[in-house]
Amino acid sequence: MNKKLNGQVAVVTGGSSGIGRCIAIGLAADGATVMVNYFRQPEMAEEVVKHIVDHGGQALAHETDVSDEAAVQEMFRRLEAECGGVDILVNNAGLQQDAAFEDMTLEQWDRVIGVNLTGQFLCAREAVRAFKRQGFRSSKALGKILCISSVHEVIPWAGHINYAASKGGVMLMMKSLAQEVGPVRIRVNSIAPGAIRTPINREVWDDPEALDNLMKLIPLKRIGESDDISRAAAWICSDEADYVHGTSFFVDGGMTLYPGFADNG
Ligand code: BGC
Repeated sequence: MNKKLNGQVAVVTGGSSGIGRCIAIGLAADGATVMVNYFRQPEMAEEVVKHIVDHGGQALAHETDVSDEAAVQEMFRRLEAECGGVDILVNNAGLQQDAAFEDMTLEQWDRVIGVNLTGQFLCAREAVRAFKRQGFRSSKALGKILCISSVHEVIPWAGHINYAASKGGVMLMMKSLAQEVGPVRIRVNSIAPGAIRTPINREVWDDPEALDNLMKLIPLKRIGESDDISRAAAWICSDEADYVHGTSFFVDGGMTLYPGFADNG
């Protein structure tokens, strides 16, 4: 069957849970061989690999802390050695370590910036190097980088200042990189998800009152699901989106419409 990502190799960081898991499964269903990158929970990554293989796809798991330069370089060496290269990087690994600003430790700041921003830089840099080494393969682009950002690349978020700063950084890193590598036909974009039902925000969707408050922030009046993101991701990574470049693609049920300003009176 001629699937839209046939013959391509993708690496999805943080691919063992939440949005990353769903993107890994979606890209594999569209024909890509997927490296499921994870940190510290091998059984979850193996479950994703098994799911993909059971559905007729190809996948392998690889542990890397994306904030570790040498480990990221090792991951790309393995992609070359065992998968014959790489066509798609999904820069998804991310975490929250929330604290009131005056209580935030340097460790909390460094870890969130390290994974969410430096991690995306390190993986993107290795991907760009690999794309240029390899030359054109089975896509119209030399390679594709998809950063998973957040509505908090533009919406300020008190109590989560390390996280908002990391995502604001991802936005201008992505756009500046898109400007820099567009001329060699490397496509770089972001998806900026809103509130998606994943382990990262369980305390919100698990608590009826918190969920009710969340709905005030979402014009479409539902929480997002990982599938909402993975469908957009598969499209952006495919040649169907060959003219989509340097864009933050908001998949947020309208959260960035600032519905608190609606005059419902
Ligand atoms: C955060 C979630 C939050 C959502 C909307 C995401 O980037 O990780 O915890 O629910 O933004 O505020």
